[in-house]
Amino acid sequence: MFTKLAFALGPVVLLAACAAPIQVGTGIPTALAPLEQDIHSHARPNEARVTHVALDLATDFTAKTLAGTATLTVARAPGATELVLDARDLTILGATDAGGDALQYALGASDPIMGAPLTVQLPTRGDRISIRYRTSPGASALQWLSPAQTAGKRQPYLFSQGQAILTRTWIPTQDSPGIRQTYEARITVPAALRAVMSAEQLTPDGEPAAAGRTFRFRMNEAIPPYLIAIAVGDIAFREIGPRTGVYAEPSVVDSAAREFADVERMVGVAESIYGPYRWGRYDILVLPPSFPFGGMENPRLTFATPTILAGDRSLVSLIAHELAHSWSGNLVTNATWSDFWLNEGFTTYFENRIMEAMYGRDIAVMLQALERTELDAEIAGFGADTAETILHLRLAGRDPDDGMTQIAYNKGSSFLRMLELAVGRERFDQYLRSYFDRHAFQPMTTARFLADMRANLLGGSDARYRELQVDRWVYGTGLPSNMPVARSDRFARVEAQARAFAQGAVPTSLVTTGWITQEWQHFLGSLPDTMTTAQMAALDQQFGFTRTGNSEILFAWLRKAIASRYQPAMSALETFLTTQGRRKFLVPLYGDLMKAEWGRPVARRIYATARPLYHPVSTGSLDGLLR
Ligand code: BES
Ligand code: ZN
Repeated sequence: MFTKLAFALGPVVLLAACAAPIQVGTGIPTALAPLEQDIHSHARPNEARVTHVALDLATDFTAKTLAGTATLTVARAPGATELVLDARDLTILGATDAGGDALQYALGASDPIMGAPLTVQLPTRGDRISIRYRTSPGASALQWLSPAQTAGKRQPYLFSQGQAILTRTWIPTQDSPGIRQTYEARITVPAALRAVMSAEQLTPDGEPAAAGRTFRFRMNEAIPPYLIAIAVGDIAFREIGPRTGVYAEPSVVDSAAREFADVERMVGVAESIYGPYRWGRYDILVLPPSFPFGGMENPRLTFATPTILAGDRSLVSLIAHELAHSWSGNLVTNATWSDFWLNEGFTTYFENRIMEAMYGRDIAVMLQALERTELDAEIAGFGADTAETILHLRLAGRDPDDGMTQIAYNKGSSFLRMLELAVGRERFDQYLRSYFDRHAFQPMTTARFLADMRANLLGGSDARYRELQVDRWVYGTGLPSNMPVARSDRFARVEAQARAFAQGAVPTSLVTTGWITQEWQHFLGSLPDTMTTAQMAALDQQFGFTRTGNSEILFAWLRKAIASRYQPAMSALETFLTTQGRRKFLVPLYGDLMKAEWGRPVARRIYATARPLYHPVSTGSLDGLLR
């Protein structure tokens, strides 16, 4: 009778589960709290849901595969019979229950973006399913580097990049940001290498194993699967402060530790704004130069490009950004990729607040102005009335990667800044702090955030909500009329110098003393689109742009050099394109070359040699461009 009733009341039981107690500290509900449908996952988490992943994997650098088992702990709704996982380019070798008995499974048809559903029969005994599998050498989440592609040139290297929907190419799990999972791992690697993960290290130096060394990890906080991350290589460590440090190849680690000397203080500054840092340590892994992103907020261990090692700490706002994700993104997570701006817009706003608290208002405002320039360029490219400029993304049938534009980042951060200006900083901070606390370790949708904000920030006032044009900001195209404007006096002076130069002043007469990286970036951005060879040469002679070791300044200069077909910078351009693989630098530079008749053969020639050095994430964006 009781069982029957429970079945008949299935939906009621599910609803009641909303109020189910949360296991303290893990965020895993004891029953299945309903989740919204994620169009980029095959999972049916309201029926059966992965709550914990235990990996036991070995690296094979010759075959370029990870192989072993993923043991999944599963919570199920009454009556559920199967678990649906996401899998892409995985070879599945078997599925068993906790006792080792075989479970039936089926791999469905694979979609080029989503991959395949892997359906496994739920065990009658226990709540665990072990999947034996192997990754493919072409797994999009993994880049296997030859020794030649590393700084040390002697050992190979492996790293993963899970966001947005790539974790399914190395772990068979429910790969949706709303389905939070704790994890543990045993990773066996060649004896000379070290493994690090986005988790607590149980064996920092590893333990001897039959075939090399084994490293064990544990992540006790429930995280979205895109944050499970690994790197294996000749990796050294330097402490920055009591809870911060840097991992990098031995020849890079000291300069990285110097570059990031402020990071211990930065964690404290972030905490003073939005409350305690909840992840224990904050370390940074500096990757080899092919890392396709600037940074990735893997919990406890931010992954970062070496192109921010400028030597003068001038590009640390990227670390402020990844650290900020420890609240926006990792604590409160976009429920689906359409809600991506909840991760990146909040984080870009918070990044700027951290920079202001660390280095002062002048710098924060300059960074805002640079973001505005990038945003305007992006909107101009899309067209101000196009759907691409809407914050809440429409991604049906599309790769979530397509939504990774300046809109989520900079229109998103501007929306929050507008709210801050409207209600005052103190109120806004109080609200955001309580928002992070009340929704910690949970997914968030755009609609739920807006409802929360209306109730808890705007006092439930519809009039206020309309007056602030909230729906226009989030669901409308372009930039609303209450878009905040960053006014930087220092940038105004920079613009005056750029204007003077454009009107014929010689570079030696320009007043540039004391300029920091962001002023140089803005100067380059304020120059005419194209210049004569004589103008370019005069600037280069005076300021040494072609030889700069600052990747952002070099990038801005090289764009000018392509636009002006400035030959003396071409070999520096080729070096830049062949020695780092950051997509944000590669796509515009190759794109600029492809726009010019003379540039197309140059782009194709460089790409032919450089492509093997790039990560699948970067080649995925470049292949189409260079066709
Ligand atoms: N989480 C992103 C990187 C990302 C987004 C990877 C979407 C895959 C899909 C990360 O926090 C980020 O935004 N990185 C930026 C740097 C930042 C300072 C704007 C980057 O890599 O350029
Ligand atoms: Zn980010």
